[in-house]
Amino acid sequence: MTQQIDAETSSRTDRPIVEFDHNAEAHSADPVASYRALREKAPVAWTDAWGGYWVLSGYDAIFDAARDDEMFSSARSAHGGEGQAILIPKRPIAEHFPIDLDPPASMPYRRIMNQLLSPSRIEEMRPMVERYTTLFIDDIIESGEADFAALTGIPSIITIDWLSLSVEDWRRYSFAHRKVLSAPLDSAEYIKVTTEELPALAEKVKAAIAERRRNLGDDPISFILRHEIDGRPITDEEVLNMVDLIISGGVGTVASLSGQALEWLSANTDVRQRLIDDPSLMQNAVEEFLRYFSPTQALARTVGKDADFHGVKIKEGDRALLAWSSGNRDAAGGFENPDEVDIERMPNRHMSFGVGSHRCAGSHLGRLMARTILTQVLERMPDYQVDRAKVTRYPRQGVNTGFETLPATFTPGKRLLEERL
Ligand code: HEM
Repeated sequence: MTQQIDAETSSRTDRPIVEFDHNAEAHSADPVASYRALREKAPVAWTDAWGGYWVLSGYDAIFDAARDDEMFSSARSAHGGEGQAILIPKRPIAEHFPIDLDPPASMPYRRIMNQLLSPSRIEEMRPMVERYTTLFIDDIIESGEADFAALTGIPSIITIDWLSLSVEDWRRYSFAHRKVLSAPLDSAEYIKVTTEELPALAEKVKAAIAERRRNLGDDPISFILRHEIDGRPITDEEVLNMVDLIISGGVGTVASLSGQALEWLSANTDVRQRLIDDPSLMQNAVEEFLRYFSPTQALARTVGKDADFHGVKIKEGDRALLAWSSGNRDAAGGFENPDEVDIERMPNRHMSFGVGSHRCAGSHLGRLMARTILTQVLERMPDYQVDRAKVTRYPRQGVNTGFETLPATFTPGKRLLEERL
């Protein structure tokens, strides 16, 4: 069911008003149809949900907004209020650097992130990414049936191990960071995760930072600790803000991307066979899966100044939702047949990693993990079938899309490694 999209003219500011809420069940039932209706009626529209916000669903509007940090601010401090400004409604969860800051304040943190997550450093992670993926597949391959949602733990364990945090805690980080993006906002599960589990995990990260401060090594936390911010040593609190962002950035998104691609490839066996026959197509296919599935569907900003923007008058302090997923299905983005998967699509200027100064710092790692998971599954379980009738999706898909369960059957195979998870 899609939401009713009736563009009317408001008496206040001539703004097209739509009935839309990206956190509502009606939207989660079919986000693609919901955004398509919005784009056709009003690519920049106002909704009264959550105290009111602009919804940017057209490619050009999203692109322009994301490139103008002054007009569309990511900062928590912009226009007061508590909580993370890149979410609607704002949530009082831990502060994250650089994503919760605008340039120039964000830049010193972003420079550190860029070095830490550069293509050459990520290439060094390849053996670890391949080993964990093999171990996860080993864990299920002899049985002939498994919940492929379990594979979504791969990015979590890699992230936690790479950061040199306690690997035995990886399930806790994985669960908490996925739930915060997918559980209904008023559910007991969401409240417990945000008020108890995430703060408890942050304490663990804090302890690891303090320990690393005493014994610097060659791990990512030590790498960050060696840096200065504006000529003074970085504080433990700032390191926590960055590490917590790395965990939340990498855990749910790659899980969402690989899960959705596996489900789609189960039904589209011709494309699956092409990827099996010619694995060199995988790199481009992952770009197309990024566009088509848009794991991070939409993030928010706060309007920094009164302005005319794509035909409407935006006001300082207004909130705005930038729907990357909608831009990705807009022909104005240069996408021919945007609702079709074309694994050889080129060029493919998708918005799945965002646009502008906050464009995903972890894109190289995200791509490597997704490619490795898909390649190994197709190599080792080429005939897998997802039982689509038993698949369950996240109850809330306005921020991140993904699966809770993805039951699959396949011809059993042999383990490759002696080591076990
Ligand atoms: C398929 C995988 C991924 C997707 C779809 C994705 C999506 C995004 C998006 C849309 C943004 C922009 C946020 C904004 O404009 O407000 C972003 C930023 C970011 N992502 Fe990713 N991400 C992915 C993987 C990762 C991974 C693996 C990591 C870490 C290892 C990561 C770390 C970050 C960080 C640190 C930022 C903030 C950059 C900044 O504020 O300057 N992401 N990501």
